[in-house]
Amino acid sequence: SLVTTNEMLKKAQEGHYAVGAFNVENMEMVMSVLKAAEEMNAPVIMQTTPSTVKYAGLDYYLAMVRAAAQRACVPVAMHLDHGSSFELAMQALRTGYTSIMIDGSHESFEDNIALTRRVADACAPSGISVEAELGKVGGKEDDLVAADDSPYTDPQQAKEFAERTGVTSLAVAIGTAHGLYKGTPKLDFDRLSAIREVVSIPLVLHGASGVPDEAVRESITRGICKVNFATELRIAFSDGVKKYLHENPDAFDPKKYGKTGMDNVIHLVKEKIAVCGSEGKA
Ligand code: 13P
Ligand code: ZN
Ligand code: NA
Repeated sequence: SLVTTNEMLKKAQEGHYAVGAFNVENMEMVMSVLKAAEEMNAPVIMQTTPSTVKYAGLDYYLAMVRAAAQRACVPVAMHLDHGSSFELAMQALRTGYTSIMIDGSHESFEDNIALTRRVADACAPSGISVEAELGKVGGKEDDLVAADDSPYTDPQQAKEFAERTGVTSLAVAIGTAHGLYKGTPKLDFDRLSAIREVVSIPLVLHGASGVPDEAVRESITRGICKVNFATELRIAFSDGVKKYLHENPDAFDPKKYGKTGMDNVIHLVKEKIAVCGSEGKA
């Protein structure tokens, strides 16, 4: 059955690796992420953004990931990514998500704390994990090309934020952005180390699509315990489907082109798990 991200991320923190968190959009992507995690014997987080939730509903995604977890011999968590309101966070909690992000990064420091704290307090009795964000990860979750105009996380503010909210993990802004980058992203590793020095809870890296493997590894060395991948999975799945339909224009069986999309996602997720260092950590 599904687990929370508390235990997973604590183990990752102690073992100096990161757990891969993969955004899923449909059943094929859920199946692919699970297959990759099993083949790598790695713990895994599947997550859905509000726009994904809007597409099919929290209950649909939870049911698919729960089915995956029931078959799995690796730990699987179901996470709400970028929870956009207290209400959506509570819906995810009631539905049975085992980990919830409340994204108050667009609010003022004090309003972000107040909102995050409310969610953390509501989730604490059931032991459900809560991730928050301080500073702004560039771009929007559904953008293909990232914008990099975001203010970075301040270490002292991060320390105060973690203490006052009681969250179980914290997403930091150190130069990554959602979507693919125009050039090579430059990450502020010194800032990450400064945050790690004063914040004890697991730190999360968003916007990892398009970040060179070396930079992801360096961020893990400096304290990142969860790495989010979305855009590259969407591209991998869609490219597989497009390729099949291009080569077989008369195809009409969704299982046929779904398979080529899945093969791409499985291959990609296995690579990302290797970069995260979570292979064999299940
Ligand atoms: P990418 O789309 O850049 O991989 O970002 C993923 C993410 O941060 C999801 O929250
Ligand atoms: Zn994100
Ligand atoms: Na990105």
